[in-house]
Amino acid sequence: MRRYSCMFLVVLVTVLIITGCAAQQASGTREQGLDKKGILVVSFGTSYADTRKVTIEACENRIAEHFPGYEVRRAFTSSIIRNILKDRDNILVDSPEEALTKMKEEGFTEVIVQPLHIITGEEYTEVLETVADFEGAFEKLVVGRPILTTIDDYKAAAEALKTQLPQLKKDQAVVLMGHGTPHPANASYSCLQLVISDMMPNVFVGTVEGYPGLDDVTARLKEADIKEVTLVPYMVVAGDHAQNDMAGDEDDSWKTILKKEGFVVKTYLHGLGENPGYQQIYINHVQDCIDGYPMGHQAE
Ligand code: CO
Repeated sequence: MRRYSCMFLVVLVTVLIITGCAAQQASGTREQGLDKKGILVVSFGTSYADTRKVTIEACENRIAEHFPGYEVRRAFTSSIIRNILKDRDNILVDSPEEALTKMKEEGFTEVIVQPLHIITGEEYTEVLETVADFEGAFEKLVVGRPILTTIDDYKAAAEALKTQLPQLKKDQAVVLMGHGTPHPANASYSCLQLVISDMMPNVFVGTVEGYPGLDDVTARLKEADIKEVTLVPYMVVAGDHAQNDMAGDEDDSWKTILKKEGFVVKTYLHGLGENPGYQQIYINHVQDCIDGYPMGHQAE
């Protein structure tokens, strides 16, 4: 009996020693500061270097300044854009999957993925799917929400937009060119229109590839007796759509079509990413991820 209890004691002590060592080792790792935190900023990308610098890059830089404890990295979702940049400019940009793979290999423990997307459409859904493949690869992995997600987001987006728009007389209007999509999130543009209309008159939302289209907007401009229109991209970047489809000299650009309809047309070639208010919105969405409210405080 005595021999058994003696053995039991030996075993118990051994177990305690081993557990103690393991615990010490674990806390030792923590103390050495191996917590590696990153923010992956994901956008569609653009091959236009000038606008990229003042929009996407500016947003990344603002986020980096605001979160010094995090390493900020870039990914572009568009393989076409990534290939143009690689072949033409020798600029290498990761896809979201490549960027997350590298961060996993480099031992990041916490990753916030912040899309620069406007709506919760196809691009954003693809980001969510990519991130889902990395479940368990990091201690913490959270995706921030796009510009237009919660109702509070729409209001913040409209407020921030207001700061970059000109003062309008009764016969002057701003026409925003959103992207538009066959995805159900196309409804975001109509919601944005209502929120903006509650706040300011004569600002009309249109889209290149969805509803409302330019025809719908033109009808509203005529109904409101508008004589002069300023075209403004409602996109992060003033890239191909803004420079060609909106402000180009081709027959089918919005500028040309509206001129033919008899309007005086001005163009404004700055992406939303240049607007400090929009940069701040992205910062707020990252902060919400860090605080545990990735879909906004209201939604949870
Ligand atoms: Co497009």
